[in-house]
Amino acid sequence: MIKQKLVIGNWKNYLDADQTIELATKISNQQIPDNIRLMISPCNLYLSEVNKALNESSVEVISQNITSYESSSDTGGVTATDLKNIGISRTIVGHSEVRKRNKDFKSEDLLKQIIPAKFNFILCFESIDQIPFNILNNDFEITLAYEPVWAIGTGETASIEHINEIHSLVKSTLSEFNLDIPLLYGGSVNPNNSKEILSQKLVDGVLVGGASTKHEDLFKIINSIR
Ligand code: 13P
Repeated sequence: MIKQKLVIGNWKNYLDADQTIELATKISNQQIPDNIRLMISPCNLYLSEVNKALNESSVEVISQNITSYESSSDTGGVTATDLKNIGISRTIVGHSEVRKRNKDFKSEDLLKQIIPAKFNFILCFESIDQIPFNILNNDFEITLAYEPVWAIGTGETASIEHINEIHSLVKSTLSEFNLDIPLLYGGSVNPNNSKEILSQKLVDGVLVGGASTKHEDLFKIINSIR
């Protein structure tokens, strides 16, 4: 079996409705190489439509955030249960932009709700102490993503040495806990650096913001390790 690298396009709030559907439709018409597993995370407002546009493809559509598992008294919240009802079974959790907005955010609180329900997630972290290793497990698809905040949207990518150093530390801690969890890098990944980053043994994939909203750049990244 080919070992696939994961590429996640986090479109944040960059695209309006028309641009979102146009890009999703273009992606649906294109071949994804066998060594890449692609996930797309549009603005939550367009999840259903993007999911429909990519329905026939191998691309998985995922949420950028949730606020709880089940419905609660929480204006503006997005629940995993609602996502499941529209056919979405994975979310990003704890992105630094979410942590910045919500200073009280503690990943444990949310993860304690979604882990028992086996709702797949990608937990973003800037420092290793933001990973609650003791509550993670191998029972469903958990993914981690190292996203140094200074590299997000700045064009300043972490050096390969730095990425390998952090990934090595996280991976050795994961193995101490007997966890088999993929680890992604995110922060100014673009077509010029994706080949080197994706080629690293300790990097299981990339979480891409800005560059993933441009069709040509996204496919250059996807095809960079063909
Ligand atoms: P950029 O690729 O735009 O730096 O964003 C990274 C990111 O935040 C992905 O979640």
